[in-house]
Amino acid sequence: MAEGRRILLIISGGIAAYKSLDLIRRLKERGIAVRCILTAGGAQFVTPLTVAALSGDKVYQELFSLTDEAEMGHIRLSREADLVVVAPATANILAKMAAGIADDLASTALLATDKPVLVAPAMNSMMWGHAATQANLATLEARGVRRVGPASGELACGEIGPGRMAEVPDILAAIDSLLDAGPLKGVRALVTSGPTLEPIDPVRFISNRSSGKQGHAIAAALARLGAEVTLISGPVRLADPAGVKTIHVESGREMLGAAIAALPADVAVCAAAVADWTVSNASKQKQKKQPGGAAPAIELALNPDILTTLSEQGPARPRLVVGFAAETETVVEHARAKRQRKGCDWIVANDVSPATGTFGGDFNTVHLITAAGDEPWPRIAKADVAERLAWRIVDALKGGG
Ligand code: PMT
Repeated sequence: MAEGRRILLIISGGIAAYKSLDLIRRLKERGIAVRCILTAGGAQFVTPLTVAALSGDKVYQELFSLTDEAEMGHIRLSREADLVVVAPATANILAKMAAGIADDLASTALLATDKPVLVAPAMNSMMWGHAATQANLATLEARGVRRVGPASGELACGEIGPGRMAEVPDILAAIDSLLDAGPLKGVRALVTSGPTLEPIDPVRFISNRSSGKQGHAIAAALARLGAEVTLISGPVRLADPAGVKTIHVESGREMLGAAIAALPADVAVCAAAVADWTVSNASKQKQKKQPGGAAPAIELALNPDILTTLSEQGPARPRLVVGFAAETETVVEHARAKRQRKGCDWIVANDVSPATGTFGGDFNTVHLITAAGDEPWPRIAKADVAERLAWRIVDALKGGG
């Protein structure tokens, strides 16, 4: 665990600096010592007094301060930590890091450090997308600097796009992973999510209403607990979760291929709504309307079953295989039968009748069905279902439960 470790947090000048205050609190709650450098820009957004009060330590701001140099020079400051975190990391500080510029305490400490560095970029989306920023990031990543985020969404400037600093839980997960912490450290997880899309012709397809919210939340929760997660996602409108390797696919067959390629894994969670049928007579050209208005015949064939295939992998079978069951009536009975039929260890059963809003919504009411029985969970946010399931996976893999 990360308890007893030390982080040097560099807060540079962005509106997201306020999130860094929460980050300090969360790190302290975990028993991690946090020492902060506040840049001149950072001090425009949060006060040294607040940072000092939360971190319980002096806040460092000046490169040439006789007192600081006597107490602790910039070299010691950067070397005494186990990890250096720059949050928010502005386009400016990333550019300085890439160019090796050392013109203030933060950039000098970053140049002098021999410790791993994690950056959490935060900026306007045009600045993020600018070739200069992307080239600087490529340079930093090639040197081993790790990155978390940015996320997409509404920015402080009112524009919408990538550039929001990653949320605190995602930064904590990245820190855990760099500090070699988290109860799922060393565990490989495979998660499927979203719908599949089965072509009828190059422009038409069969699909379903899955948004990927539940599967993506599970991938993110497992990653936060330290697992190395591969998420295989059908077409969704969600951003790739932070700290997760995401593979984008369209059809059920592609999803199966990607799932097999992601083995070996310790745990597999199949939350995707894979289309049960694919179109066996899909046309290579766009189908034309028939003279007289006759509709073309669409022939369906069963798609391969990914969950069953993963459950039947013999020695390569993940230690824990978890499926979902999407039902509209006699949910638990159907789900129990599905668990037997598909050979998985657990089934998470959910009612997907339109009135429940499960498909596409933010909440879910599930039953966890295991060999031991059936456990009803209350209606909670999909993120909370994911968190709860991830901790059950910790218990099962680490505690033998
Ligand atoms: O994506 P959201 O909008 O957040 O909605 C979440 C969800 C409702 C999609 C999710 O909670 C869920 O129930 N996922 C499973 C949907 C489904 O296809 O259920 P099923 O009962 O048809 O399939 C049973 C299991 O077999 C599932 O684990 C499914 O991933 C798997 N399966 C099904 C068919 C197939 N060809 N391959 C599979 O792996």
